[in-house]
Amino acid sequence: MFSYVDHLECTKCGSVHPQSRPTRTCPDCGKVLFARYDLPRLRREVDRSVFDSRASGMWRFSELLPVRDPDNVVSLGEGGTPLMKADELGKALGLKSLYIKDESLNPTLSFKARGVSAAVSVAKELGLDKYTMPSAGNAAGALAAYAARGGMEAHVFMPRDAPFANRAESSAMGARLELVDGTIADAGRVSKVVAQEKGLFDLSTLQEPYRAEGKKTMGLELAMQLGWRMPGAIVYPTGGGTGIIGMWKGFYELLELGWVEGKPPRFIAVQAEGCQPVVKAFHEGADHCEPWPNPHTVGDGLRVPGPFADYIILKAIRDTGGTALAVSDEDMVSAMTEIAKAEGVFACPEGAATLVGLKRLVREGLVDPDESIVLLNTGSAYKYLDLLKDRV
Ligand SMILES: Cc1ncc(COP(=O)(O)O)c(C=O)c1O
Ligand SMILES: [Zn+2]
Repeated sequence: MFSYVDHLECTKCGSVHPQSRPTRTCPDCGKVLFARYDLPRLRREVDRSVFDSRASGMWRFSELLPVRDPDNVVSLGEGGTPLMKADELGKALGLKSLYIKDESLNPTLSFKARGVSAAVSVAKELGLDKYTMPSAGNAAGALAAYAARGGMEAHVFMPRDAPFANRAESSAMGARLELVDGTIADAGRVSKVVAQEKGLFDLSTLQEPYRAEGKKTMGLELAMQLGWRMPGAIVYPTGGGTGIIGMWKGFYELLELGWVEGKPPRFIAVQAEGCQPVVKAFHEGADHCEPWPNPHTVGDGLRVPGPFADYIILKAIRDTGGTALAVSDEDMVSAMTEIAKAEGVFACPEGAATLVGLKRLVREGLVDPDESIVLLNTGSAYKYLDLLKDRV
């Protein structure tokens, strides 16, 4: 058996819905749906050691992914990214077990490949072949690639000032690209209208259940790479929050399966000073974010003024004893070269923001020098070379 997926469950009202029909958000309340698996049966039938023995890549975790027939998997070799000990940076910060999970090595050079591979594969299984997606840039590039790979039609909407690399890869791979004045929120509005007009399936993150499942595999992989242990903390550049939510969900699945012990890592959400709705809501004790006015940052993936799944991001941070903080664009760009020089990892500005955030945590005594801490580098600096123009 390939997948143990069972049903969809609403994260707000708890209603249960079949997984075998195309469904985006909860039909009863409009909030985020999670894919649920038959974990008791999986626990009985499968031992975690099977995952170690399989070929590297995200689909090695097929039992915990939502595609029932392997023939429907649309893959470009996503996942299986290295978890590297960052000893140089660790030494400078007085940390014994600092790691970088380097997602820049995914197809289309970002972690978006995981979520899009999962979502497109399920959509294929459910007979859908025309998609639309608003994106800050990287997700659009990933959708263009996976749609090309699967022979599907993709429409992508991104801010006019999205990185050139994302615009170029989307067009080159055959997606219909439309540039929109404003942010991803404005792109989302246009995408919804076009979806209605043209009968496209909307793959906006967390407004369909499966991109989070793909991103969940970052957490499953992390646990496996640490010898089936969870790290102490994960520092994550947070835009729509799909990665935090996916990994948080994944760690609870591993706990329920008895494949790891302890408690999930603290999630440290790092945002940009110019767009920090999650940071503000977290520190005000709110359950929802107010849309951030005039959002701006060079970390394009962090320019999400009002994440749809705000209540789950905030819950994941609070549930794990984490925190949220914002960093400046200038520090983000400096951290790109700092990480590159120290560790040979060419991180995107969003990924580099995690180092800036970690330094603050160290200064404030919020991390234990002995615990394992993971910086999540979500993408590649090669998509943002313009930012380094003045440093060459
Ligand atoms: C490079 C990069 N990092 C981080 C993010 C934010 O991701 P998430 O939606 O998981 O918070 C994005 C989203 O566009 C991104 O492209
Ligand atoms: Zn609901």
